Amino acid sequence: MNLLQNISVTLMLLFSYLSSLNSTIFNNEVNQCTIPPELQKEIASYKTVVNRIIHSLLVGDLQNTTYRRLAEFIDKFGNRIAGSENLENAIDYMLNKSVELGLENVHSEEVYVPHWVRGNESAVLIQPRYQNLNMLGLGSSVGTPVDGITAEAVVVDSFEELENIAAHVYGKIVIFNERYISYGETVKYRQFAASKAAEQGAVATLVRSITPFSLNTPHTGWQDYSDNVTKIPTACITAEDSHMLRRMQDRGERIIIKLKMEAQTFSPKLSRNTIAEIKGGEKPEKVVVVSGHLDSWDVGEGAMDDGGGAFLSWNSLVILKYLGLRPKRTLRAILWTAEEEGLVGAQAYVKAHKNETQNFNFVMESDEGTFTPLGLKYTGIPDGKCVLEAILSLLKDINTTTVEEPADGGPDITFWLSEGIPGASLLNRAESYFWYHHSAADTMDVEDPEALNLATALWASVAYVVADITADMPRKPGQFL
Ligand SMILES: *[C@@H]1O[C@H](CO)[C@@H](O)[C@H](O)[C@H]1NC(C)=O
Ligand SMILES: *[C@@H]1O[C@H](CO)[C@@H](O)[C@H](O)[C@H]1NC(C)=O
Ligand SMILES: *[C@@H]1O[C@H](CO)[C@@H](O)[C@H](O)[C@H]1NC(C)=O
Ligand SMILES: *[C@@H]1O[C@H](CO)[C@@H](O)[C@H](O)[C@H]1NC(C)=O
Ligand SMILES: *[C@@H]1O[C@H](CO)[C@@H](O)[C@H](O)[C@H]1NC(C)=O
Ligand SMILES: *[C@@H]1O[C@H](CO)[C@@H](O)[C@H](O)[C@H]1NC(C)=O
Ligand SMILES: [Zn+2]
Repeated sequence: MNLLQNISVTLMLLFSYLSSLNSTIFNNEVNQCTIPPELQKEIASYKTVVNRIIHSLLVGDLQNTTYRRLAEFIDKFGNRIAGSENLENAIDYMLNKSVELGLENVHSEEVYVPHWVRGNESAVLIQPRYQNLNMLGLGSSVGTPVDGITAEAVVVDSFEELENIAAHVYGKIVIFNERYISYGETVKYRQFAASKAAEQGAVATLVRSITPFSLNTPHTGWQDYSDNVTKIPTACITAEDSHMLRRMQDRGERIIIKLKMEAQTFSPKLSRNTIAEIKGGEKPEKVVVVSGHLDSWDVGEGAMDDGGGAFLSWNSLVILKYLGLRPKRTLRAILWTAEEEGLVGAQAYVKAHKNETQNFNFVMESDEGTFTPLGLKYTGIPDGKCVLEAILSLLKDINTTTVEEPADGGPDITFWLSEGIPGASLLNRAESYFWYHHSAADTMDVEDPEALNLATALWASVAYVVADITADMPRKPGQFL
């Protein structure tokens, strides 16, 4: 960086600082916040209890409990894919622990979930030279014939490129070497590669893993076959191998790959959503939900996705109970099952609890990492954001005061959010989340005790205050007037 650039950067930073100050002032003065002064005062009165929660988690006798309980669970069960015996044992364990630690109304609710089993699998580059390709079959993929599929491969960087070379795809393995833009934007290649390539007569697909960063690790995930095409085997390969295959093709080299997959889909299996509560002291029918999913992929340990989120939610109730804090409304922890196969547990739960829709005051979910927390991502009307900002200002000491919109990384609560129920997901320093996501690298080493202490302080405080204040979280403008 030269001096001139340096000065102009300094000026830019100064300018953006000034305009952010300006927008803060603007927000405070002109923002449509209609929280009545009594409610502002009431929220401020929770400072003592919030400090107690923070203190107990950061330096007191609850320090590292989220991390420790998660580590015990992860070390005991490892990964927990839907349909597995292991997931059901993990659910039993959580039910037992919930009772043991004094949670209330502990129970599970049954739901049929997909049962896909990977089996042994391999992808071997035969030509132009022999090399084992690190791969993972994608969830719901069919297997190959017992002897595998050996075929010439063709590499494309996009669905558009596939269309352009459609005439040359018949009988081949198509490799998708798409560029990673963002998870939301790029994941369509994992989801639809097989169907798009099958439409052109391909015999299998290999997809560059959906990740911004790779140490030659494949990342699995669910994929969807369209109804109208042949189901062909589909797997992910690493970014490194995908790039190499592209270079080989660009040099005019003929690529031959042998793919073997034993993947099988069995009939749906009974699983369970896991529920534990602290019953509300005054309005038990009104509910604040905290949640995360207990199932995971069948590689790595699912410590991050979503062990961290599930335990953040569950342990928030455990520590509130331990601290003797019973709010006016009911706090309900829900540990979803079969999120990875398409929010299967959540869909069933939302349907079964339609009768309570009016009583869901606020719904929270953590499923995008539990790195250093920064605040919340919120979906709802602006008045609710004002309430959350007032609550988060009580957490200034731990730097978790930001409210962004909308809530995301919270797929299991989206059904409720889209029905107008206000909710939030955890805002955290999740820049590296997709480095580990759905891969063998999703282990306990991703989780950090101090980040979990802070996240639990934030999560438990918000859940408690929202469940205890006089006013419901607003769904309609002017509700406070
Ligand atoms: C909590 O974890 C931190 C970081 O690993 C460690 O320094 C501290 O001793 C732990 N405290 C307890 C009570 O386990
Ligand atoms: C749960 O508790 C029951 C009854 O105490 C016990 O039989 C069972 O083995 C426990 N299950 C797990 C997974 O801890
Ligand atoms: C995978 O293959 C090994 C032998 O190569 C065998 O022992 C094992 O049972 C197979 N696993 C599955 C899930 O079929
Ligand atoms: C198959 O269905 C998808 C939508 O599910 C559609 O976009 C596609 O054009 C269809 N392909 C054929 C060959 O009919
Ligand atoms: C709603 O339905 C569920 C499940 O069917 C039941 O457990 C619950 O008690 C009902 N709640 C209300 C408020 O009626
Ligand atoms: C909050 O941020 C301040 C300023 O960067 C820092 O000094 C402090 O240690 C942070 N507190 C926590 C709990 O992370
Ligand atoms: Zn997840």
